[in-house]
This record gives sequence, C-alpha cells and structure tokens, in this order.
Amino acid sequence: MSKIAVIGTGYVGLTTGACFASLGHDVVCADIDAAKVARLQRGEVPILEAGLDNLVREGIDGGRLSFVVGAATAAADCEFAYLCVPTPQSTDGSADLSYIEDAAREIGPVLGPETVVVNKSTVPVGSTRVVERALGRSDVYVVSNPEFLREGSAIHDFLNPDRIVIGAEDQDAAVRVSSLYLGITAPVIVTDPASAETIKYAANAFLATKISFINAVAAVCEAVGADIKDVALGMGYDTRIGHEFLKPGPGWGGSCFPKDTRAMVRIAEDAGYDFNLLKGVVNVNDEQLNRVAEKIVAQAGGSVQGKVIGVWGLTFKARTDDLRESPSLEIIGRLVERGATVRGFDPSGPGPLEGLEVVDDPYAAVERAHVLAVLTEWDEFRWLDLDKVKDLMAAHKVVDARNLLDRSAFVRRGFEYEGIGRS
Ligand SMILES: NC(=O)c1ccc[n+]([C@@H]2O[C@H](COP(=O)([O-])OP(=O)(O)OC[C@H]3O[C@@H](n4cnc5c(N)ncnc54)[C@H](O)[C@@H]3O)[C@@H](O)[C@H]2O)c1
Repeated sequence: MSKIAVIGTGYVGLTTGACFASLGHDVVCADIDAAKVARLQRGEVPILEAGLDNLVREGIDGGRLSFVVGAATAAADCEFAYLCVPTPQSTDGSADLSYIEDAAREIGPVLGPETVVVNKSTVPVGSTRVVERALGRSDVYVVSNPEFLREGSAIHDFLNPDRIVIGAEDQDAAVRVSSLYLGITAPVIVTDPASAETIKYAANAFLATKISFINAVAAVCEAVGADIKDVALGMGYDTRIGHEFLKPGPGWGGSCFPKDTRAMVRIAEDAGYDFNLLKGVVNVNDEQLNRVAEKIVAQAGGSVQGKVIGVWGLTFKARTDDLRESPSLEIIGRLVERGATVRGFDPSGPGPLEGLEVVDDPYAAVERAHVLAVLTEWDEFRWLDLDKVKDLMAAHKVVDARNLLDRSAFVRRGFEYEGIGRS
C-alpha cells in the first residue's frame, strides 16, 4: 500500500482521497482553506456527494485518511502527490494553471526523490511540463491521470470507472500509478501525457456536443410537431449512438463543461486548428438558455416585468449541491434582468443567492407565482401535490425544462404545460 498526498479537497480531491483510503492506501489530504480542513478533521463533509461522508469517516476511523492545511505538510512524506486543485477559465478562454503552479511550487522543495506527482486536475496539453518547471526538481516524475467522475455519483464512478487513463513519459512511473488502482476492474490506457490530457478534454467536449445536439433536435421537434422523448429513444437504441446524454434540457453547465469546451477551442486555436464544430456546440448551449428563458416569458404572457416566477431546481444538475455555472441560475439571471421576481427552491438547501429569494420548501416557491419553471431534474419534484401547487399559484403555467413531470397530470388540472421538444 502507498503513501498518497492529495492536494485540494474539493469534489475531485476529497473523492480521490477517500476512495484511495478505502482501497487501503495511507492518504493525507491538504487544502489551503483552514476552515474546510477543520471540518474534515471532525469527519464533516462540506459537499453533498452520495456516500462520501461514510467513506471519509471510515477512512479517519481506520487511521488511513487525515487532513492538513497546506500542500507541503501533506507532501513531505509521500510516494505520490495528486494535484486536484481548480483549473478555472481565464479571461481568454484558456485554462488558468495558476493553482496548479502554486501547488507544485509549494510541494517541490519537500518531495522525496522518485516521488510521482500526478495531475488529476483537468489541464491542457503541455501542463506536465508546466508542473515539472514549477516543481523545480529533476529527480521526481510527473504523470497525467485525468478524472472522469460525475458529481452525484462520484464515489461509484471513482471505484467503478469506465477506464483509467495514465499519461507518462516514464513507463515505471505509469506502472506505479496504475498499481494504486489495484482492486478496481477497468481497462487501463497508458499513453503519453499529451494524449491523456487530450482524452479528458475530448471526452467532455463530446458529451457537451451530444447534449447540444439533442437540444437542437428538440428545437426541430417543436417546429415540426415531433416528440423529442420518442425521437431520443429511437436514436438511443442504435448502439452506435446510445441513450446516455440524449436528454434535452435547459443547456449544459457545471464546473467542467463550460470551461473545458472553451479551453479545447483555445487549445485547438493555439495549435492552428479552428474547432468550428465545438464553437457551434457552445453557441447552441447559449441559445438553449435563451430558448428556455423565452418559454418562461411566453408563459408569463409575453413579459415577466412585475411577475413572480417560481423555480424548482437551482443546482446545475440533480444530486449535487454544486451551483457553479448552473443553467438554472443563468436563466434566472436573464429573467431578473427583464423585471421578474424569482423565488427558488432546491433540495440541496443552498444558502442565500444574489438576485432571487431562496426558499426552503417547493410549495413556498410557487406561492402567488405566475409561472412554475422546473430547471433541475431532482426526482423529488415528481411526487409533489399538484392540487396544492394549483391552489398556491396566481396563474397556472408550467415550463418543465427537463421534461421531468407528468404533463397529463398538469393538463388535467387546467395548467398550461410547456416542455422541451414536445408540441
Ligand atoms: N468537479 C468535477 O465533477 C470534476 C470532474 C473531473 C475533473 N475535474 C477537475 O478537477 C479539478 C478540481 O475540480 P474540483 O471540482 O474538485 O474543484 P473544487 O473547487 O471543488 O476544489 C478545489 C480545492 O482545491 C483547493 N486548493 C486550491 N489551491 C490549493 C493549494 N495550493 N493547496 C491545497 N489546496 C488548494 C481549494 O481550496 C478547493 O478546496 C479541476 O481541474 C476540474 O476541472 C472536476
């Protein structure tokens, strides 16, 4: 079993640390956020992620998982240092590598010889060199091992991955990284760092493309009187296409797709290729946010000025508390700009948010509302009392941007129901 330092305890770092500890490794997780570390030391998990609190507590109780402030403290005595820090979007669309460089500069002086520094953050081609330079060490290895987990099923995805990708110049270092995953059954792809880094961006770009594609087809369905649910079902049975990521919605968002698609456009541009297809995918997504906002405006009678819009779902998708680049918040912003009052509910229990009133009950969100907008696909929205919803609302209009609810149940009660891609 190995000694692993995990730098950054966000969605990826905390999952990585807790899962490696569950596989039997000795893991020390570091963060710069002292308050977060203090909570983690007490076994409190600051994010909503199924099963993560149990796994963290098991790791702490078993003496295999601990938390410290500062990357250098964690890395001083490790065989592997996993970088799981943010790589946000810079103003020019490229990935901002400053967190990666800072973390590498911090740990460089304390690493033992032969340590393997592993990039798990999503980083553009060439970042292995950036990390090598920031480390300032010629006696350690830098390997790329991108992460493909989905928030909401992060533990499951880490422990049951579709594949493990390892990009390394040095074969021994690649084998050492692959040995950390002993106990997990998955194809292991060992390649060069540039290919590993490209696999991660290309995979996210392709998934975003699938969603934008089905959203565009949904727009066609509305125009020609077809039903996107049946169209997607019929397409998905083709094994070359598959059912995953063929659900229309308000557009993709979250902490990865927006920045990773733009970064891929930028990577291609810098390398002399104009990635027009992916630019189109990004544009379709922005149009989709507008299309949903326009549906809500239309249901409000052509203007949302002075109208109350009740929103169910604020996170970028269900089963997470992550609000980063949430399509719901983006659409709400567009409605507020046009004079709407928005009252929103989300099962993850977010705190106060700018521009809207956050309530802690789905019924409170629809009180005196002119339109109910369903913007995130939380399962619990399916089981609410629609008679009560009807009594509370000022007008009986629904925009179901996830095609989540039972249209006929609304129509039977006299609601005007508008979904996505269905006439
Ligand atoms: N969130 C996802 O679903 C997901 C999936 C796959 C890949 N990724 C990639 O993984 C990376 C991390 O994403 P995330 O969502 O976990 O980010 P996050 O913002 O949730 O967490 C990052 C953590 O790193 C900490 N940090 C920053 N600098 C540090 C330093 N010098 N030392 C110690 N800690 C430091 C921050 O305080 C924060 O707690 C990104 O590159 C992202 O693109 C994310």
